[in-house]
Amino acid sequence: MRIPAGHLKNIPTPFYFYDMELLSHTLSVISEATKDTPDFHVHYAIKANANPKILKAIAEAGFGADCVSGGEIKAAVAAGFPAGKIVFAGVGKNDDEIRLGLEIGISCFNVESLPELEVISQLAVHAGKTANVALRINPNVDAHTHEKITTGLNENKFGIAMEDTLTAIDRAKELPNINYTGLHFHIGSQITDLTVYRHLCQRINNLQEQLEEKEITTSSINVGGGLGIDYENPQDHPIPDFKNYFHLFRSHLQLRTGQTLHFELGRSVVAQCGSLIAKVLYVKKGHSKQFLILDAGFTELIRPAMYQAYHQIENINRPASNPSEHYDVVGPICESSDIFGKEVFLPVSERGDLIALHSAGAYGEIMSSTYNCRSLPKSYFSSDFE
Ligand code: LLP
Repeated sequence: MRIPAGHLKNIPTPFYFYDMELLSHTLSVISEATKDTPDFHVHYAIKANANPKILKAIAEAGFGADCVSGGEIKAAVAAGFPAGKIVFAGVGKNDDEIRLGLEIGISCFNVESLPELEVISQLAVHAGKTANVALRINPNVDAHTHEKITTGLNENKFGIAMEDTLTAIDRAKELPNINYTGLHFHIGSQITDLTVYRHLCQRINNLQEQLEEKEITTSSINVGGGLGIDYENPQDHPIPDFKNYFHLFRSHLQLRTGQTLHFELGRSVVAQCGSLIAKVLYVKKGHSKQFLILDAGFTELIRPAMYQAYHQIENINRPASNPSEHYDVVGPICESSDIFGKEVFLPVSERGDLIALHSAGAYGEIMSSTYNCRSLPKSYFSSDFE
Protein backbone atom coordinates (compact mmCIF):
# COMPACT_ATOMS: atom_id res chain seq x y z
CA MET A 1 0.00 0.00 0.00
CA ARG A 2 1.11 3.56 -0.62
CA ILE A 3 1.52 5.88 2.36
CA PRO A 4 1.91 9.58 1.58
CA ALA A 5 4.25 10.27 4.55
CA GLY A 6 4.55 13.96 3.65
CA HIS A 7 0.78 14.53 3.83
CA LEU A 8 0.45 12.69 7.12
CA LYS A 9 3.04 14.55 9.12
CA ASN A 10 0.72 17.18 10.55
CA ILE A 11 -2.13 14.85 11.50
CA PRO A 12 -2.41 14.06 15.22
CA THR A 13 -1.40 10.45 15.88
CA PRO A 14 -2.29 7.64 16.30
CA PHE A 15 -4.70 7.10 13.41
CA TYR A 16 -5.66 4.57 10.76
CA PHE A 17 -4.75 5.25 7.17
CA TYR A 18 -6.60 3.42 4.38
CA ASP A 19 -5.43 3.06 0.81
CA MET A 20 -8.77 3.25 -1.01
CA GLU A 21 -7.21 2.42 -4.37
CA LEU A 22 -5.95 -0.86 -2.99
CA LEU A 23 -9.39 -1.58 -1.55
CA SER A 24 -11.05 -0.86 -4.86
CA HIS A 25 -8.49 -3.00 -6.70
CA THR A 26 -9.07 -5.86 -4.25
CA LEU A 27 -12.83 -5.61 -4.77
CA SER A 28 -12.44 -5.75 -8.53
CA VAL A 29 -10.17 -8.80 -8.31
CA ILE A 30 -12.91 -10.57 -6.29
CA SER A 31 -15.61 -9.53 -8.74
CA GLU A 32 -13.48 -10.67 -11.67
CA ALA A 33 -12.78 -14.05 -10.01
CA THR A 34 -16.50 -14.71 -9.47
CA LYS A 35 -17.99 -13.12 -12.58
CA ASP A 36 -18.39 -16.38 -14.51
CA THR A 37 -20.21 -18.05 -11.64
CA PRO A 38 -23.38 -16.03 -11.00
CA ASP A 39 -24.39 -18.57 -8.35
CA PHE A 40 -21.44 -17.35 -6.18
CA HIS A 41 -22.38 -14.57 -3.76
CA VAL A 42 -19.76 -12.74 -1.70
CA HIS A 43 -20.84 -11.14 1.58
CA TYR A 44 -18.33 -8.88 3.30
CA ALA A 45 -17.90 -9.79 6.99
CA ILE A 46 -18.57 -6.42 8.63
CA LYS A 47 -16.79 -7.50 11.83
CA ALA A 48 -13.41 -7.09 10.11
CA ASN A 49 -13.86 -3.33 9.67
CA ALA A 50 -17.06 -1.30 9.95
CA ASN A 51 -15.60 2.09 9.09
CA PRO A 52 -18.47 3.79 7.19
CA LYS A 53 -16.31 4.81 4.20
CA ILE A 54 -14.95 1.30 3.84
CA LEU A 55 -18.46 -0.17 4.09
CA LYS A 56 -19.78 2.26 1.51
CA ALA A 57 -17.05 1.34 -0.99
CA ILE A 58 -17.78 -2.37 -0.52
CA ALA A 59 -21.56 -1.91 -0.78
CA GLU A 60 -21.12 0.16 -3.95
CA ALA A 61 -19.09 -2.65 -5.47
CA GLY A 62 -22.20 -4.84 -5.17
CA PHE A 63 -21.21 -7.15 -2.32
CA GLY A 64 -23.57 -8.47 0.34
CA ALA A 65 -22.91 -8.21 4.08
CA ASP A 66 -22.33 -10.78 6.81
CA CYS A 67 -23.36 -9.43 10.21
CA VAL A 68 -23.04 -10.75 13.75
CA SER A 69 -25.04 -8.18 15.71
CA GLY A 70 -27.89 -5.73 15.43
CA GLY A 71 -25.31 -2.93 15.40
CA GLU A 72 -23.64 -4.48 12.37
CA ILE A 73 -26.99 -4.87 10.61
CA LYS A 74 -27.66 -1.16 11.19
CA ALA A 75 -24.17 -0.22 9.96
CA ALA A 76 -24.67 -2.38 6.85
CA VAL A 77 -28.03 -0.81 6.03
CA ALA A 78 -26.68 2.73 6.62
CA ALA A 79 -23.81 2.02 4.21
CA GLY A 80 -26.21 0.92 1.49
CA PHE A 81 -26.08 -2.89 1.62
CA PRO A 82 -29.52 -4.12 0.51
CA ALA A 83 -31.36 -6.10 3.23
CA GLY A 84 -31.82 -8.91 0.71
CA LYS A 85 -28.03 -9.42 0.68
CA ILE A 86 -27.52 -9.44 4.46
CA VAL A 87 -26.88 -12.67 6.35
CA PHE A 88 -26.87 -12.76 10.14
CA ALA A 89 -24.73 -15.19 12.17
CA GLY A 90 -23.72 -15.43 15.82
CA VAL A 91 -24.18 -17.89 18.69
CA GLY A 92 -26.00 -15.42 20.90
CA LYS A 93 -28.46 -13.35 18.89
CA ASN A 94 -30.71 -11.49 21.32
CA ASP A 95 -34.43 -10.93 20.80
CA ASP A 96 -34.08 -7.31 19.68
CA GLU A 97 -31.48 -8.28 17.10
CA ILE A 98 -33.69 -11.07 15.75
CA ARG A 99 -36.66 -8.67 15.58
CA LEU A 100 -34.54 -6.16 13.67
CA GLY A 101 -33.50 -8.82 11.15
CA LEU A 102 -37.13 -9.84 10.66
CA GLU A 103 -38.33 -6.28 10.38
CA ILE A 104 -35.92 -5.24 7.63
CA GLY A 105 -36.19 -8.60 5.86
CA ILE A 106 -32.60 -9.83 5.85
CA SER A 107 -31.89 -12.63 3.42
CA CYS A 108 -30.93 -15.27 5.98
CA PHE A 109 -30.41 -16.08 9.65
CA ASN A 110 -27.45 -18.41 10.12
CA VAL A 111 -28.78 -20.34 13.08
CA GLU A 112 -26.33 -21.82 15.54
CA SER A 113 -28.52 -23.92 17.89
CA LEU A 114 -31.93 -25.53 18.29
CA PRO A 115 -33.02 -23.16 21.10
CA GLU A 116 -32.20 -20.21 18.83
CA LEU A 117 -34.31 -21.74 16.05
CA GLU A 118 -37.30 -21.99 18.41
CA VAL A 119 -36.92 -18.34 19.46
CA ILE A 120 -36.64 -17.10 15.85
CA SER A 121 -39.82 -19.01 15.03
CA GLN A 122 -41.71 -17.48 17.99
CA LEU A 123 -40.57 -13.96 17.17
CA ALA A 124 -41.34 -14.43 13.46
CA VAL A 125 -44.87 -15.63 14.28
CA HIS A 126 -45.33 -12.61 16.52
CA ALA A 127 -44.06 -10.23 13.83
CA GLY A 128 -46.08 -11.92 11.09
CA LYS A 129 -42.89 -12.58 9.07
CA THR A 130 -41.13 -15.64 7.74
CA ALA A 131 -37.46 -16.10 8.55
CA ASN A 132 -35.16 -17.69 5.97
CA VAL A 133 -32.87 -19.91 7.93
CA ALA A 134 -29.57 -21.60 7.19
CA LEU A 135 -28.25 -23.97 9.82
CA ARG A 136 -24.67 -23.42 10.86
CA ILE A 137 -23.13 -26.84 10.99
CA ASN A 138 -19.87 -27.50 12.76
CA PRO A 139 -17.98 -29.74 10.29
CA ASN A 140 -15.13 -30.62 12.70
CA VAL A 141 -12.45 -29.52 10.24
CA ASP A 142 -9.13 -28.28 11.63
CA ALA A 143 -8.36 -24.92 10.04
CA HIS A 144 -4.65 -25.07 11.00
CA THR A 145 -4.70 -21.55 12.34
CA HIS A 146 -4.30 -19.79 15.70
CA GLU A 147 -6.36 -21.52 18.44
CA LYS A 148 -8.21 -18.30 19.24
CA ILE A 149 -9.55 -18.00 15.69
CA THR A 150 -10.42 -21.65 15.04
CA THR A 151 -14.17 -22.20 14.96
CA GLY A 152 -14.98 -25.44 13.15
CA LEU A 153 -13.83 -28.06 15.65
CA ASN A 154 -16.17 -30.14 17.81
CA GLU A 155 -14.79 -28.45 20.92
CA ASN A 156 -15.74 -24.93 19.71
CA LYS A 157 -18.95 -23.21 20.82
CA PHE A 158 -20.09 -22.52 17.26
CA GLY A 159 -22.73 -24.24 15.17
CA ILE A 160 -24.77 -27.41 15.37
CA ALA A 161 -22.89 -30.73 15.52
CA MET A 162 -22.71 -32.55 12.18
CA GLU A 163 -24.59 -35.57 13.59
CA ASP A 164 -27.51 -33.36 14.64
CA THR A 165 -28.01 -31.86 11.17
CA LEU A 166 -31.04 -33.99 10.25
CA THR A 167 -32.79 -33.40 13.56
CA ALA A 168 -32.25 -29.64 13.17
CA ILE A 169 -33.55 -29.60 9.59
CA ASP A 170 -36.62 -31.63 10.60
CA ARG A 171 -37.32 -29.16 13.38
CA ALA A 172 -36.80 -26.17 11.04
CA LYS A 173 -39.33 -27.68 8.64
CA GLU A 174 -41.88 -28.24 11.42
CA LEU A 175 -41.65 -24.83 13.04
CA PRO A 176 -44.03 -22.09 11.94
CA ASN A 177 -42.71 -19.07 10.00
CA ILE A 178 -39.34 -20.71 9.37
CA ASN A 179 -38.14 -21.36 5.84
CA TYR A 180 -35.21 -23.79 5.73
CA THR A 181 -32.95 -22.56 2.93
CA GLY A 182 -29.53 -23.97 3.51
CA LEU A 183 -26.40 -24.88 5.36
CA HIS A 184 -23.72 -22.60 6.75
CA PHE A 185 -20.13 -23.37 7.72
CA HIS A 186 -17.23 -21.27 8.98
CA ILE A 187 -14.12 -23.08 10.15
CA GLY A 188 -11.77 -20.29 11.19
CA SER A 189 -9.83 -17.25 10.17
CA GLN A 190 -6.39 -16.44 8.68
CA ILE A 191 -6.39 -19.75 6.81
CA THR A 192 -3.37 -19.94 4.54
CA ASP A 193 -3.39 -23.68 3.86
CA LEU A 194 -6.08 -24.03 1.20
CA THR A 195 -6.25 -27.84 1.56
CA VAL A 196 -8.33 -27.11 4.66
CA TYR A 197 -11.10 -25.85 2.35
CA ARG A 198 -10.85 -29.05 0.30
CA HIS A 199 -11.66 -30.99 3.47
CA LEU A 200 -14.59 -28.68 4.08
CA CYS A 201 -15.87 -29.32 0.53
CA GLN A 202 -15.64 -33.09 1.10
CA ARG A 203 -17.63 -32.82 4.33
CA ILE A 204 -20.29 -30.75 2.57
CA ASN A 205 -20.47 -33.16 -0.39
CA ASN A 206 -21.01 -36.11 1.96
CA LEU A 207 -23.61 -34.25 3.94
CA GLN A 208 -25.49 -33.25 0.79
CA GLU A 209 -25.66 -36.91 -0.26
CA GLN A 210 -27.13 -37.88 3.10
CA LEU A 211 -29.70 -35.11 2.85
CA GLU A 212 -30.70 -36.12 -0.64
CA GLU A 213 -31.32 -39.68 0.54
CA LYS A 214 -33.93 -38.13 2.82
CA GLU A 215 -35.22 -35.99 -0.07
CA ILE A 216 -34.23 -32.76 1.64
CA THR A 217 -33.68 -29.88 -0.77
CA THR A 218 -31.11 -27.28 0.15
CA SER A 219 -31.05 -24.12 -1.92
CA SER A 220 -27.96 -22.40 -0.48
CA ILE A 221 -24.58 -23.39 0.87
CA ASN A 222 -22.51 -20.83 2.79
CA VAL A 223 -18.83 -21.65 3.34
CA GLY A 224 -18.08 -18.68 5.61
CA GLY A 225 -14.87 -16.72 5.40
CA GLY A 226 -11.35 -17.24 6.65
CA LEU A 227 -9.07 -16.72 3.67
CA GLY A 228 -5.73 -15.55 5.07
CA ILE A 229 -3.41 -12.76 3.97
CA ASP A 230 0.37 -12.36 3.85
CA TYR A 231 1.30 -10.46 7.03
CA GLU A 232 5.02 -11.15 6.50
CA ASN A 233 5.24 -9.59 3.09
CA PRO A 234 2.33 -7.24 2.38
CA GLN A 235 4.22 -5.26 -0.26
CA ASP A 236 4.63 -8.30 -2.53
CA HIS A 237 1.19 -9.77 -1.82
CA PRO A 238 -1.22 -6.90 -1.29
CA ILE A 239 -4.11 -8.95 -2.71
CA PRO A 240 -4.76 -12.58 -1.71
CA ASP A 241 -5.02 -15.26 -4.38
CA PHE A 242 -8.78 -15.04 -4.82
CA LYS A 243 -8.65 -16.75 -8.20
CA ASN A 244 -7.30 -19.97 -6.70
CA TYR A 245 -9.58 -19.72 -3.69
CA PHE A 246 -12.80 -19.51 -5.72
CA HIS A 247 -11.48 -22.06 -8.20
CA LEU A 248 -11.04 -24.54 -5.36
CA PHE A 249 -14.76 -24.39 -4.53
CA ARG A 250 -15.70 -24.54 -8.19
CA SER A 251 -13.71 -27.75 -8.60
CA HIS A 252 -14.31 -29.48 -5.26
CA LEU A 253 -17.78 -28.54 -4.10
CA GLN A 254 -20.57 -30.40 -5.87
CA LEU A 255 -23.22 -27.72 -6.14
CA ARG A 256 -26.65 -28.94 -7.24
CA THR A 257 -28.57 -27.26 -10.03
CA GLY A 258 -30.03 -23.98 -8.83
CA GLN A 259 -28.01 -23.98 -5.59
CA THR A 260 -26.25 -20.77 -4.61
CA LEU A 261 -22.85 -20.65 -2.91
CA HIS A 262 -22.18 -17.90 -0.37
CA PHE A 263 -18.89 -16.61 1.02
CA GLU A 264 -18.30 -14.35 4.03
CA LEU A 265 -14.91 -12.78 3.48
CA GLY A 266 -13.61 -10.23 5.97
CA ARG A 267 -9.87 -10.05 6.49
CA SER A 268 -8.92 -10.89 2.90
CA VAL A 269 -10.96 -7.92 1.62
CA VAL A 270 -9.70 -5.15 3.90
CA ALA A 271 -6.57 -6.16 5.86
CA GLN A 272 -3.92 -4.99 3.45
CA CYS A 273 -5.49 -1.62 2.70
CA GLY A 274 -5.10 -0.31 6.28
CA SER A 275 -2.12 0.72 8.41
CA LEU A 276 -2.00 2.11 11.90
CA ILE A 277 0.18 5.22 11.97
CA ALA A 278 1.82 6.10 15.27
CA LYS A 279 4.53 8.48 16.41
CA VAL A 280 7.71 7.68 18.32
CA LEU A 281 7.36 9.34 21.71
CA TYR A 282 10.64 8.20 23.18
CA VAL A 283 13.69 6.20 22.24
CA LYS A 284 14.60 4.55 25.51
CA LYS A 285 17.80 2.68 26.22
CA GLY A 286 17.11 -0.22 28.58
CA HIS A 287 19.53 -2.53 30.38
CA SER A 288 20.16 -4.79 27.41
CA LYS A 289 17.87 -3.48 24.72
CA GLN A 290 16.37 -0.31 23.42
CA PHE A 291 12.73 0.53 23.05
CA LEU A 292 10.76 2.62 20.61
CA ILE A 293 7.86 3.84 22.72
CA LEU A 294 4.97 4.74 20.43
CA ASP A 295 1.86 6.78 21.09
CA ALA A 296 -0.27 3.80 19.91
CA GLY A 297 -0.74 0.66 21.95
CA PHE A 298 -2.99 -2.38 22.13
CA THR A 299 -5.90 0.00 22.56
CA GLU A 300 -5.48 0.84 18.85
CA LEU A 301 -4.25 -2.55 17.58
CA ILE A 302 -4.81 -5.51 19.87
CA ARG A 303 -3.82 -8.34 17.52
CA PRO A 304 -0.16 -8.67 18.63
CA ALA A 305 -1.14 -8.77 22.34
CA MET A 306 -4.16 -11.00 21.86
CA TYR A 307 -3.06 -13.48 19.18
CA GLN A 308 0.72 -12.93 19.18
CA ALA A 309 0.10 -11.65 15.65
CA TYR A 310 2.88 -10.25 13.50
CA HIS A 311 2.39 -6.86 11.84
CA GLN A 312 5.18 -5.47 9.71
CA ILE A 313 6.60 -2.30 11.25
CA GLU A 314 8.07 0.49 9.13
CA ASN A 315 9.59 3.87 9.92
CA ILE A 316 7.98 5.85 7.10
CA ASN A 317 10.21 8.90 7.60
CA ARG A 318 13.52 7.13 7.07
CA PRO A 319 14.67 4.97 4.14
CA ALA A 320 15.19 1.30 4.99
CA SER A 321 18.73 1.63 3.56
CA ASN A 322 19.75 3.95 6.46
CA PRO A 323 21.94 2.50 9.24
CA SER A 324 19.61 0.35 11.34
CA GLU A 325 19.33 -1.02 14.86
CA HIS A 326 17.18 -3.46 16.82
CA TYR A 327 14.30 -2.07 18.85
CA ASP A 328 11.47 -3.49 20.90
CA VAL A 329 8.53 -1.51 19.57
CA VAL A 330 6.04 -0.95 22.39
CA GLY A 331 2.99 1.11 23.30
CA PRO A 332 2.17 3.37 26.26
CA ILE A 333 -0.43 1.09 27.95
CA CYS A 334 0.31 0.04 31.50
CA GLU A 335 0.52 -3.67 30.74
CA SER A 336 3.53 -5.71 29.75
CA SER A 337 1.67 -7.33 26.84
CA ASP A 338 1.59 -3.94 25.10
CA ILE A 339 4.29 -4.87 22.59
CA PHE A 340 4.03 -4.62 18.81
CA GLY A 341 7.30 -6.35 18.01
CA LYS A 342 10.52 -7.49 19.64
CA GLU A 343 14.00 -6.98 18.20
CA VAL A 344 12.62 -5.20 15.14
CA PHE A 345 15.39 -4.07 12.79
CA LEU A 346 14.61 -0.46 11.87
CA PRO A 347 16.51 2.56 10.59
CA VAL A 348 17.90 4.56 13.53
CA SER A 349 14.77 6.34 14.76
CA GLU A 350 14.10 9.52 16.67
CA ARG A 351 11.32 11.10 18.69
CA GLY A 352 8.64 12.34 16.30
CA ASP A 353 9.20 9.74 13.56
CA LEU A 354 6.08 8.18 12.05
CA ILE A 355 5.81 4.42 12.36
CA ALA A 356 3.41 2.36 10.25
CA LEU A 357 2.02 -0.96 11.45
CA HIS A 358 0.94 -2.62 8.26
CA SER A 359 -1.83 -5.09 7.33
CA ALA A 360 -4.04 -3.59 10.01
CA GLY A 361 -7.16 -2.91 7.92
CA ALA A 362 -8.92 -5.98 9.38
CA TYR A 363 -9.62 -6.41 13.11
CA GLY A 364 -7.62 -3.24 13.82
CA GLU A 365 -9.70 -0.09 14.14
CA ILE A 366 -12.85 -2.11 14.91
CA MET A 367 -11.22 -3.84 17.90
CA SER A 368 -9.81 -0.68 19.39
CA SER A 369 -10.84 0.29 22.91
CA THR A 370 -10.82 3.19 25.33
CA TYR A 371 -8.87 1.30 28.02
CA ASN A 372 -6.75 3.68 30.14
CA CYS A 373 -9.36 6.35 29.18
CA ARG A 374 -7.75 6.77 25.79
CA SER A 375 -9.59 8.17 22.76
CA LEU A 376 -10.58 5.91 19.88
CA PRO A 377 -8.34 6.39 16.83
CA LYS A 378 -9.49 8.51 13.90
CA SER A 379 -9.20 7.37 10.29
CA TYR A 380 -7.91 9.00 7.10
CA PHE A 381 -8.14 7.84 3.52
CA SER A 382 -5.84 8.07 0.52
CA SER A 383 -8.77 9.73 -1.29
CA ASP A 384 -8.56 12.64 1.26
CA PHE A 385 -5.19 13.62 -0.18
CA GLU A 386 -5.92 13.50 -3.91
N1 LLP B 1 -18.08 -15.63 9.01
C1 LLP B 1 -18.13 -15.93 10.33
C2 LLP B 1 -19.26 -16.70 10.83
C3 LLP B 1 -17.08 -15.50 11.18
O1 LLP B 1 -17.14 -15.81 12.47
C4 LLP B 1 -15.99 -14.76 10.65
C5 LLP B 1 -14.90 -14.30 11.51
C6 LLP B 1 -16.01 -14.46 9.27
C7 LLP B 1 -17.06 -14.91 8.48
C8 LLP B 1 -14.92 -13.65 8.61
O2 LLP B 1 -13.70 -14.31 8.67
P1 LLP B 1 -12.42 -13.71 7.90
O3 LLP B 1 -12.66 -13.85 6.42
O4 LLP B 1 -12.23 -12.29 8.32
O5 LLP B 1 -11.33 -14.58 8.35
N2 LLP B 1 -10.17 -10.93 15.49
C9 LLP B 1 -9.49 -12.05 14.87
C10 LLP B 1 -10.33 -12.70 13.79
C11 LLP B 1 -11.69 -13.19 14.30
C12 LLP B 1 -12.55 -13.79 13.23
C13 LLP B 1 -13.93 -14.02 13.73
N3 LLP B 1 -14.84 -14.55 12.77
C14 LLP B 1 -8.15 -11.56 14.32
O6 LLP B 1 -7.81 -10.39 14.51
O7 LLP B 1 -7.40 -12.34 13.73
